[in-house]
Amino acid sequence: METSAITVGIIGGTGDLGTGLARRLARAGFRVIVGSRNESGAQGAAEALKNLGETSGWGALQVSGASNSEAATAADLVFVTVPFSAHSVTLESIHEAVQGKVVVDVTVPLVPPKVARVQLPEGGSAGQLAQVALGDNVRVVSAMQNVAAAHLNSDDTIDCDVLVTGNNKEARQQVIDILQIIDVRGFHAGMINNAAAAEALTSILININKQYKTHAGIRITGV
Ligand SMILES: NC(=O)c1ccc[n+]([C@@H]2O[C@H](COP(=O)([O-])OP(=O)(O)OC[C@H]3O[C@@H](n4cnc5c(N)ncnc54)[C@H](OP(=O)(O)O)[C@@H]3O)[C@@H](O)[C@H]2O)c1
Repeated sequence: METSAITVGIIGGTGDLGTGLARRLARAGFRVIVGSRNESGAQGAAEALKNLGETSGWGALQVSGASNSEAATAADLVFVTVPFSAHSVTLESIHEAVQGKVVVDVTVPLVPPKVARVQLPEGGSAGQLAQVALGDNVRVVSAMQNVAAAHLNSDDTIDCDVLVTGNNKEARQQVIDILQIIDVRGFHAGMINNAAAAEALTSILININKQYKTHAGIRITGV
């Protein structure tokens, strides 16, 4: 895959997970647009990442900042990295811009303050809600719910796997290929209904994190 030919938009890219994804994707040569509700905030985050690239010797990263809707419009592929409380309104704001594209939803439908308890939404999962909200012309892929942002924001090897769900197998494969480039092993895990399993697992991992003071992940064995 020619990474420099692909523009990835990260909606809510100023947050913990979005920053980590931007860092890994940009370092791998993708063109990254950090999206935010606040354009200057996005540009600040993009500048910070470019500076990190220079000081770390990664070379000139292709990163810019824009409003969420501009990032979605300019991108070939879009990651949505916002809290579940902002999921619906954010999807609405990029609805037109993402028609015909692959949208990767990383959202975990946590219900604060009891985030260590599985509380999936009516509609099954955030992934299913995203597919319904964006419509059949958008290939929604759900992924990354079980990778802590701390891992993405480090230079360490990522020691966990990712369940990748979505109704379009080619779109899932495209996401798996991109994840592989940024050191994350993704697995086809079925249709978007199965996103519920990955989303629910996050609350299990939060319990484990509290108990063992770590950033736990999952591993698929036997493959
Ligand atoms: N953090 C992790 O380790 C982790 C791991 C796996 C999955 N996830 C999932 O990834 C998603 C992002 O997590 P995160 O920790 O990066 O979240 P976060 O830092 O709390 O928020 C991400 C971004 O979402 C935007 N945002 C916040 N409130 C909003 C609102 N009301 N309306 C619209 N945009 C809003 C903000 O961007 P602007 O203010 O710049 O617009 C913020 O920087 C969540 O669904 C989370 O469950 C997180």
